[in-house]
Amino acid sequence: MPTLRALKARQVLDSRGRPTVEVDAIADGGARGRAIVPSGASTGRHEALELRDGDPSRYAGLGVTKAVANIGATIAPAIRGMDLDDQAAIDAALLALDGTANKSRLGANALLGVSMAVAHAAAAARGEELFAHVNRLWKAKAAGLDPSVPREPTMPLPMVNMISGGLHAGRNLDLQDVLFIPTGADGYSQALETIVAMYRAVGDVLRKMGAEANLVGDEGGYGPRLGDDEQALKVVVGAMLACGLTPGVDGHIALDVASTHFHDPATGTYKLSNVPRPMDAGAMVDMLAGWVDRYPIISIEDGVAEDDWEGWKSLTARLGDRVQLIGDDLFVTQTARIERGIASGAANAVLIKVNQVGTLTETLDALALARRAGFRPVVSARSGETEDATIADLAVGTAAGQIKIGSVARSERLAKYNRMLRIEEDLGPRAPFAGRATLP
Ligand code: PGA
Ligand code: ZN
Repeated sequence: MPTLRALKARQVLDSRGRPTVEVDAIADGGARGRAIVPSGASTGRHEALELRDGDPSRYAGLGVTKAVANIGATIAPAIRGMDLDDQAAIDAALLALDGTANKSRLGANALLGVSMAVAHAAAAARGEELFAHVNRLWKAKAAGLDPSVPREPTMPLPMVNMISGGLHAGRNLDLQDVLFIPTGADGYSQALETIVAMYRAVGDVLRKMGAEANLVGDEGGYGPRLGDDEQALKVVVGAMLACGLTPGVDGHIALDVASTHFHDPATGTYKLSNVPRPMDAGAMVDMLAGWVDRYPIISIEDGVAEDDWEGWKSLTARLGDRVQLIGDDLFVTQTARIERGIASGAANAVLIKVNQVGTLTETLDALALARRAGFRPVVSARSGETEDATIADLAVGTAAGQIKIGSVARSERLAKYNRMLRIEEDLGPRAPFAGRATLP
């Protein structure tokens, strides 16, 4: 059994030039695993705490040297010598060391960096690919679940950012992401080719309209100033037609409304820049339902705000049988909140972001809980990313079915798409692909 010999942590920079935590885990035999922690911008209020230094004289207060120091001073001495294959025991030790509900003592960024690096080192010690190691963890976690829950490594269907707005693109639109799903694809690499064709076509449509198609948002989607949100939907439909796709048949739209970020909790209303009066949840649901009727939308994330449980229930009652309704800020990858959603009929899918919860084991718990309730999981990157591609292996190894990384621009995004090309090659010419069947 490989054991942990040492941890080495350092501060590196993410895709926005902000400091983040990188961890090397070294096995007794010398095998190494490395992981870098991602970071969000449109974060949910209930996420685990990302520990920042707060020293305004260095990196505008965003340094993570305290989190790095916690790894060296507190975490490394406590978990040294532990079995690297026992991810659950290591993660339990991390939680016990931190001791807080939101990981604020050591920092969720410290915990996650260690948790992921350990998994990489365990795989390296055995000379196997990370997705295969994650798959073993997933099979153990899924042991008691219904036999229909996917267990074998499976290439996910990507949902891909085409047009960015909200906090990721200077609030040019209220919608944060307008995404494309290549629902006609039979395999991952074929899906990727369609995605790239679509990305180019969206640029062409924008240029023809005289809109900006050179500036991209934090996730690589185009960041044009359009008249309103609905225009962004029309652009993506136009690009599908230009690519020879039939909207609603072999190409679909997904939205990340990220509505928490234009919701006013004091009045319970949503303030869209193009709608003259604030809207209540009912009006938001009406607007989204109208779009679903007029556009080939198959998935909506955070259609209402993170604590608007009543709004979530009416959104789900209205659209839940035809549209995937993903809770991101709502669930923050945490089982207690997902359980509340299951019990109350809020959402029917869960966005899975490793740093919202802070350890790999808790991420697997969230995936298993979602599967137990028939909620679709969508493994997701953050708007602040790096060359770390752990989530590609996570999505394949847990057969999650869907992945959301951003666009096919900016190398912190391509690191994951490219990693999946390599995994697909490993899985062989008949690599299982989740495809259209994973959606409603
Ligand atoms: P974030 O955005 O990483 O900035 O939170 C991603 C998302 O909202 O899905
Ligand atoms: Zn989101």
